[in-house]
Amino acid sequence: MASQIPVSAPPSGGTDTDGAIKTYTMEQLKEHGSKESLWMLLHDKVYDVTRFMDEHPGGDEVMLEEAGRDATEAFEDVGHSDEARSMLPKMLLGDFQGQKTSKKKTDPYPTAAKTIQSEKSKITWLIPVAVVGAYLAWRVFLA
Ligand code: HEM
Repeated sequence: MASQIPVSAPPSGGTDTDGAIKTYTMEQLKEHGSKESLWMLLHDKVYDVTRFMDEHPGGDEVMLEEAGRDATEAFEDVGHSDEARSMLPKMLLGDFQGQKTSKKKTDPYPTAAKTIQSEKSKITWLIPVAVVGAYLAWRVFLA
């Protein structure tokens, strides 16, 4: 049996009463960022995944982590199957409009990388000093 999502009040299917596609903003998306109501932004479309969260094979936590931002990258990184993608139209609310916030960070470890770099240059500088110091100590010891 194909798994069914219990839908007591299904989403509008992406259109309003006139049949026009609804659009949503980041502000609206952020208002629905909890377990009680979770909307998700995928490929410039907004989905209501509230009821699906409990059934998600990847768990609800990963979905909640994508609340209020563009979840496209996270969704694609997992390599979701065609079956997973076929579930999306049922949850579609409408199109997204406006500026997006994504998880992508340009420089995740800037400070750590710099610290490692400066530690490395310290070691490079210390080796010849230690060698010369050891040589001099040896000479003094022999004298
Ligand atoms: C409405 C959006 C989503 C739907 C319909 C969905 C659906 C599914 C389905 C059906 C699977 C089973 C494997 C497959 O068929 O590909 C799955 C697995 C998974 N999903 Fe999603 N997913 C959604 C969003 C997300 C997001 C935003 C994340 C965030 C990272 C995510 C993370 C995962 C992970 C990690 C698994 C693997 C679970 C495992 O095999 O242990 N999913 N999802």
